[in-house]
Amino acid sequence: ARQFFVGGNFKMNGSVQSIKKIISGLNEANLDPKVEVVVAPPALYLLLARAELRKEVEVAAQNVYDKNEGAFTGEISPAQLKDSNIGWTLIGHSERRVILKESDEFVASKTKNALDQGVRVILCCGESLEQREKGETVSVVTAQLGAVAKAISAEQWANVVIAYEPIWAIGTGKVATTAQAQEVHIALRQWLSKTISDKVAEETRIIYGGSVSEKNCKDLATQPDIDGFLVGGASLKPAFVDIVNARL
Ligand code: 13P
Repeated sequence: ARQFFVGGNFKMNGSVQSIKKIISGLNEANLDPKVEVVVAPPALYLLLARAELRKEVEVAAQNVYDKNEGAFTGEISPAQLKDSNIGWTLIGHSERRVILKESDEFVASKTKNALDQGVRVILCCGESLEQREKGETVSVVTAQLGAVAKAISAEQWANVVIAYEPIWAIGTGKVATTAQAQEVHIALRQWLSKTISDKVAEETRIIYGGSVSEKNCKDLATQPDIDGFLVGGASLKPAFVDIVNARL
């Protein structure tokens, strides 16, 4: 069985003070020990989070570059994440794809480099409202993942968690219905089976993100192909603990 996975993406939120408060809340909480929990604070606070968080909670960067060192002002490399004991990174969040114009190929190149350096990847995909309304959801998300499939080996999928985050559900309070999410998750698993292998399809966690809250998480968590969540806004609040414990 796939281990349930809950990520908290703080995005560009928080301060030393507020992040310390979130950390002490997590350190004191009763977290379901069966769940893998990873939080992604802004880069400036990664070391603080790693130093102060309980060991079972892992820390992720929100982004990483596709080279390991050199003249790339403002970027952070997976080698530097490793050096700082940060074992995970998000890659391909829609806010980066849309606002910072990251292409499927660039996302794939970053994913390959992170995995080659031993940094695990929460790989985000998702369609816009316009694409959904045109019936393009599955073709959009499989094209996003297809670029990655060309770049990495079948074995490397063991270190990838796929986050399906429909853009229209992010930060809008408009969560996908359990049926809408489950439908895309099944399609992604079938695509993995066809493109990579049955084993990768069976073992890869596919998590849902977009307006996940303590109110809707339990229902979503009943779906057989929803293996966890990527939580934005609610990851800054005590409600995050309830989301981690959705299957308790
Ligand atoms: P919200 O939970 O705020 O909708 O954000 C989801 C998200 O983008 C997580 O990466």
